[in-house]
Amino acid sequence: MKKIFKPFNLAAVAMSCMLLAACGTSEGTSGTDKPIVVGTEATFAPFEYMDKGEIVGFDVDLLDAVLSEAGIEYELKNVGWDPIFIMIENGEIDMAVSGITITEDRQQTYDFSSPYFESTHMVAFKEGADITSANDIVGKNIGVQISTTGQIAAEKIVGENHSDISKFDSTALAFLALDQGNVDVVVTDNVVVNEYVKNNPNSGVTGIEDTENFEAEYYGFLFKKENDLREEVNAAFKTILENGTYSEIYEEWFGVQPNIDLLLEFME
Ligand code: ARG
Repeated sequence: MKKIFKPFNLAAVAMSCMLLAACGTSEGTSGTDKPIVVGTEATFAPFEYMDKGEIVGFDVDLLDAVLSEAGIEYELKNVGWDPIFIMIENGEIDMAVSGITITEDRQQTYDFSSPYFESTHMVAFKEGADITSANDIVGKNIGVQISTTGQIAAEKIVGENHSDISKFDSTALAFLALDQGNVDVVVTDNVVVNEYVKNNPNSGVTGIEDTENFEAEYYGFLFKKENDLREEVNAAFKTILENGTYSEIYEEWFGVQPNIDLLLEFME
C-alpha cells in the first residue's frame, strides 16, 4: 500500500494509543498503513446491498477494482446513509461509495471523484395507480429516502418540505412502505427502481421515467475536502476505464456496455 499522509488516521492511532496503555512506537508507525475505511449504505441494489451477510453490488466491485489498482487496502463498512456524510466530515471514514450523486450543494462541503455512473430518477408505484408522468405524484403520498436527490426531485414537483412526502432512512424502507400501502409512490434512482421491479415480480410495482422532470445526474466516490486520496482514486479509475476493467464490471451487472467516452470526457 502506498504511504499517504492522512492526518485523521494519525489522530486515530494517537487516540487508540491513549486508550490502550500498551502501545509501542512500532504500532504508531504501522498505523499509517492501516486499511482505509470506506462507508456505504447497503440497501440500494444493484449498487450496494447485503447478500448472505456480505456487502455486494456494482459499486462494491468498482470500489475493489479502483482501490486494488491504486494499491490501497480498505475495509468496507455498512454505516447507513445520513452517517456517511457525518463520518466523512469527522474523519471516521476516509471515503464513501453509495450511489452518491455529485451535486453542487454537496460539493460545498465534500469532494467527489470523477463521475462513474449516469443516473436519473423514476417514479415507482403499484399498477393501477393513475400515473403517467412525474407530475402525477401531486396529491399522492410520496416516499423518498431522506437527504437524497430523490427527495429533491420530488420536492421540485410538489414543493419543499411538503407534508405529502414521507422521508425514510433507506430506500428499502420506502419500498416497504409502498408495498404495505403506506405511500402511493416512491421517487428514487432509475436503476434501483428497475431492480426492485425485477426482483419483486409479484409486488405489482412498476415504474415510469420522465425525462422532462428528471434530469441526468452522476455518481461519484465521496471524500473529505482537500484529500490526497481523491487524486489516487481518480488516477486508478482512469486506468480501469481505459484498460477494460470498468467495462467488464459494468457488463457483468448491467448486461450492456458502458459509455466510456462520456466518463473519460468528464476527467478532462
Ligand atoms: N443517488 C441518490 C443520492 O445521492 C441516492 C443514493 C442513495 N444511496 C444509497 N446507498 N442508499 O442522493
